Amino acid sequence: MEEKKRSSFSGRIGFVMAAAGSAVGLGNIWRFPYLAAKYGGGIFLLVYILLAVTLGFSLMVSEIALGRKTKLSAIEAFSTLNKKFKFLGILASAVPVIILPYYSVIGGWVAKYMVVFMTGGSAQAAQDGYFSQFISAPVEPAIWFVLYIIATAVIVLLGVEKGVEKASRILMPLLVVLSVIIAVYTSVQPGALEGIKYYIMPDFSKFSVKTVLAAMGQMFYSLSLAMGIMITYGSYLKKDGDIEASVKQIEIFDLLIAFLAGLMIVPSVFVFSGGDESQLQTGPGLMFEMLPKVFDSMPFSNVVGAVFFVLVLFAALTSSISLMETVVSIVQDKLHWSRKKSSIAVLIFTIAVGMLSCLGYGPLSFISVFGMAFLDFFDFISNSVIMPIVAL
Ligand code: PHE
Repeated sequence: MEEKKRSSFSGRIGFVMAAAGSAVGLGNIWRFPYLAAKYGGGIFLLVYILLAVTLGFSLMVSEIALGRKTKLSAIEAFSTLNKKFKFLGILASAVPVIILPYYSVIGGWVAKYMVVFMTGGSAQAAQDGYFSQFISAPVEPAIWFVLYIIATAVIVLLGVEKGVEKASRILMPLLVVLSVIIAVYTSVQPGALEGIKYYIMPDFSKFSVKTVLAAMGQMFYSLSLAMGIMITYGSYLKKDGDIEASVKQIEIFDLLIAFLAGLMIVPSVFVFSGGDESQLQTGPGLMFEMLPKVFDSMPFSNVVGAVFFVLVLFAALTSSISLMETVVSIVQDKLHWSRKKSSIAVLIFTIAVGMLSCLGYGPLSFISVFGMAFLDFFDFISNSVIMPIVAL
């Protein structure tokens, strides 16, 4: 049994980096661009930014403040405020439990692409149909998924998150630099201008309630809000930490990476597929279909692709670590199990549930939940249903 002691972050930088590590991940690089492509480009970007700097900002400040004030984790923090809010704590804890499994499936896809580029497979990966063939295979995606979640679990079990955080202090700025280079490269390709216009200029005729809902879900997801994570980080923050200044930095970083990812991916649909409407609607596979084409047209394509996917893998890991930490601490609190036992239980649960999402595009593709594949369903229920309820 471990003592429940809350260590404090040494300085504001440590706190900002840890929170940014949780925030910046696949949400920014994988999820944001495909939503932007799907929901009208510029109008989605505009609504997203407006929501992030208003609602997102105040929610993050209040979650961190709530954690700092109560010094408790999410479930307990809500009920300390008011007994009636206890169910919110429970709903909030359900979110990382739902997200972690399918997040790890996408993490596995990233690991696969990293290895493909490392082994010189750029030209192959850029071919039409490569990605859909990969995700519909019966075994391979499952192997990558299991490797990814085991890597996450090992880091959590060994308690070496600090090392990963340190590495990400160097790697995340590198990700920004490389993303700028790739985005500039994409922008000067023939046909890109149309794509940049689509991505940046809001077309108000494409505005609908759906745009707002999608942007709101994405905001919670990307900023790791409405699931108690920021409450937990806040509980480690010293009384005199300047919350608003920290949140500003976290948000700027998070927005920047999402914006750059969109700038790499959305215009490339216009460069390589002439802005084909059905290609814009691709959904979760968009990044994996478009980026290899971008890389393959660049000099040193295998190196660029390999480095890029290494950096994305790190960004993903820092997020899945924070997701897994949260789930493990929920299990520890509720069942009073040791950290080791809880971590192993969470690992097994995650593999079982994640397998549904993983195989949902292949052997299990005949099953659909409300018309969605498993992965899309889990994504929808957490981001578009539970998170808005908790947040409001
Ligand atoms: N915010 C992370 C991302 O953008 C995902 C995440 C969600 C992490 C919820 C922790 C909690 O990828």
